[in-house]
Amino acid sequence: MQRHDLYGPIHKGIRFALSDLLVRLGNADFADGAAGRELLGAVRRQLVLSAGHLHHEEAEIHGALEARAPGATLTLQADHDHHRRAFETLEAAIAAVEAAPAEARAAPARQLYLAFSQFAAADFAHMAEEELVVLPLLHRLFDDEELIAMEARIVAAIPPEKMIEYLKLMIPGMNPAERAAFLGFVRAGAPAEVFEAILGFAARPTLAPAEYEALELALAA
Ligand SMILES: [Fe+2]
Repeated sequence: MQRHDLYGPIHKGIRFALSDLLVRLGNADFADGAAGRELLGAVRRQLVLSAGHLHHEEAEIHGALEARAPGATLTLQADHDHHRRAFETLEAAIAAVEAAPAEARAAPARQLYLAFSQFAAADFAHMAEEELVVLPLLHRLFDDEELIAMEARIVAAIPPEKMIEYLKLMIPGMNPAERAAFLGFVRAGAPAEVFEAILGFAARPTLAPAEYEALELALAA
C-alpha cells in the first residue's frame, strides 16, 4: 500500500515556482520597468512562500521527528538556516536591481539571477534529501494517521488566501494522476464551498483548458 507523502505535492509546487522564476530572471528585460517590477514582485512573493514552508516543516515535522529520532533533523535545520541567509541575500539583490537606473540594471540583474540559481540549486538538493531520506524515516517512525494529522495542523495554520497561493503552484506542478488523487483527498476533508474555491481560484487559472477538463472528468469518476 502506498504510504502518505506529505512532502511530494508541496515540493513539486516549489520546484515548479523556482524553475519558472529562474527562467524568467534569465530572460527578463529589466530595462522595461513594468515587466521588471512584476517579476521582482513575483520573486519576493515566492520568498515569502518558501520561508513559510520552512517554518511549517519545522513547526510540525522537525519537533515530532526529533522526539522519536534525536539528531535526525540536524542537517535539515542547517539547510533551512542556509535558505534563510539566502533569502536575505536575494532581498538585497532585488533591492539593488530596483535601485539601479534602467540603463544600468544588467549587472545587478545578473547578480540576482546567479544568487537565485544558487538558492534554487540548494533548495532542489534539500527537498530531494527530504523525500529520499527523511520521508522513509518518517514512514518507519509514524503511521499514516499521524502524518496526515501533522499535515492537517500545517494546513490549519495557513490562512485561506495564502493556501490558495501555495495551491496555485502545487496543482500545476503535479501530473494528472497526482492532481486527481490530491484534489480527491482535499475534497473528502473540506467543506464543499472551500473545495469549489480551490478549483476556481487555484486549479482553473493555473491549468491549460484540456488539463482542467481532464481533472474534472477524473474527479467525477
Ligand atoms: Fe525542508
